Amino acid sequence: MLTVALSKGRISHEATPLLARAGIALDEDPAGSRRLCIPTSLDGVRVLVLRAQDVPTFVEHGAADLGITGKDVLLEHPGAGLYEPLDLGIARCRLVLAVRTGAEPPGSRPRVATKYVETTRRFFAGKGVQAEIIRLYGSMEIAPAVGLADCIVDLVDTGATLAANGLVVREEVAAISARLIVNKAAMKLSHGRVSALVERIGRAVAGEDAGCS
Ligand code: ATP
Ligand code: PRP
Repeated sequence: MLTVALSKGRISHEATPLLARAGIALDEDPAGSRRLCIPTSLDGVRVLVLRAQDVPTFVEHGAADLGITGKDVLLEHPGAGLYEPLDLGIARCRLVLAVRTGAEPPGSRPRVATKYVETTRRFFAGKGVQAEIIRLYGSMEIAPAVGLADCIVDLVDTGATLAANGLVVREEVAAISARLIVNKAAMKLSHGRVSALVERIGRAVAGEDAGCS
């Protein structure tokens, strides 16, 4: 049995049709089901439905052989036990540094609100700036307006959330999309089955349907 850890929410909405095109149709739609382990149409493949941040943990520990989660999550979780063979090209957005519209450039020790603590630390360290990082778990966009932070590092897609909260992009930190990850030991021990699954998903990403074969 091969187990695929799938990030629920936004990524599963886009990944489920992609997996179906790869011939790995989930027996139930994760959005409408309370089941956390879902069989698929492909013999010997099942899907675990998880929080995005937990996907690398399951794959790294071998509780899942493969996983699908955002690059933003992987940047925060630089695990040694993972391969990242495919950019799935879905759930695309950008991780950005954003400031209040018309704000002065942040000073020498900016206060940055984010849930991407490690990525933000590396980003500022790369510029030789020691930032004070304020960890939040959501609604980062409100932090500058209420004086909690000078700027934020968060995801932006349409820009509507930034605009609605009086913020603008100052700099891109990273381009984000969903990635396929693989447990390194599984790649060695079940090489044939794992690489066949990676290739199958890769063909679907490239726009080739699995067909009946
Ligand atoms: P939870 O709701 O469980 O706390 P979450 O808010 O990170 O987690 P989602 O909003 O479903 O869950 O986001 C999951 C992933 O989708 C993110 O890690 C990121 O890779 C991607 N993502 C998040 N926001 C956007 C967006 N606005 N546009 C495109 N992709 C996004
Ligand atoms: C994500 C992200 C931003 C917003 C960006 O939030 O954290 O707040 O999307 O998208 P936009 O540029 O198109 O407005 P999400 O909708 O997932 O809400 P949550 O993470 O706060 O639950």
